Amino acid sequence: MIDLILIVLLSIAGRGERQHVVTPAELNQHGTAFGGFLLSEMDRASGIAVRRILNDRDAVTIAVNDVRFVAAARQKDLLVTTAYVSETGTKSLTVTVATRRGNETIATGKFVFVSVKDGVSIEHGLPKVKGK
Ligand SMILES: CC(C)(COP(=O)(O)OP(=O)(O)OC[C@H]1O[C@@H](n2cnc3c(N)ncnc32)[C@H](O)[C@@H]1OP(=O)(O)O)[C@@H](O)C(=O)NCCC(=O)NCCS
Repeated sequence: MIDLILIVLLSIAGRGERQHVVTPAELNQHGTAFGGFLLSEMDRASGIAVRRILNDRDAVTIAVNDVRFVAAARQKDLLVTTAYVSETGTKSLTVTVATRRGNETIATGKFVFVSVKDGVSIEHGLPKVKGK
């Protein structure tokens, strides 16, 4: 029960969002958005979520896990990427992120960040929460 409350609190305090309209420079030879571009959107939205929960303290991306490109995005699509902190360890924070076009999911993933000071990992001080 306490874990569930902590998960909800994390997801509220650690939330990030980005909106972007796909431009020609972000398209591959198939006319769909590059995977790398979508990863960048997800990384940035996740970074905002982490920055919020850490009250502007520094963190870096250490791992990108379970990424799935679910559907193709095309030029002029308005993409909304939402992220929330779903799990915490000692130094790490895991962010669950999804990019959508309207109600349709374009990509999903889990981005892991580590709290750092002067480039060295440090404990972030948040309670440990194992995501469901
Ligand atoms: C981030 C960095 C300082 C961490 O170094 P480190 O202290 O040796 O890292 P560790 O191996 O001890 O891992 C730290 C945490 O990340 C977690 N972690 C590491 N690899 C992981 C993976 N593949 N998946 C999930 N979690 C992972 C560890 O379990 C640990 O979590 P915990 O402290 O909550 O238990 C170092 O790897 C670094 O500088 N990397 C480059 C970062 C970067 O440039 N990112 C891109 C731009 S932001």
